[in-house]
Amino acid sequence: MSLVDHAANVRRNAHAPYSNFQVGAALTSVEGNLHVGCNVENVAYPEGTCAEAGAIAAMIASGDKRIAEIAVIADSPAPVPPCGGCRQKLAEFADGDVRVTLATTDGARLQTTVAELLPGAFDAGYMERT
Ligand code: THU
Repeated sequence: MSLVDHAANVRRNAHAPYSNFQVGAALTSVEGNLHVGCNVENVAYPEGTCAEAGAIAAMIASGDKRIAEIAVIADSPAPVPPCGGCRQKLAEFADGDVRVTLATTDGARLQTTVAELLPGAFDAGYMERT
């Protein structure tokens, strides 16, 4: 099964009663494991947590450290761009050349990379003098 297929499967578990917009994400870690996440909203913070953040949290909780590849899927007219916060999280746990596949449930695919999603990313190198 492809990474997009795994993302589509976990998307069915999304808890999105406020936006009614279900998102699934699946990643393989450099350590060789699959981790999945869906968006989880709540009444106080209706934007909730994103699918990408869920997959990253699952990866870190499992003990894996780095993303090798990630796919995200939603039922949108065009492949959904990850939000700003998720771009920073991707940059934290993936090298710039890591492939990101953005997908729609009706078959559209957009291939990009972590560096393309967050050009000029702030990273620890900028804190070298502290
Ligand atoms: N969402 C994601 O999970 N990932 C994205 O890349 C875009 C947005 C979620 C957050 C919220 O639950 C809903 O989609 C609407 O913003």
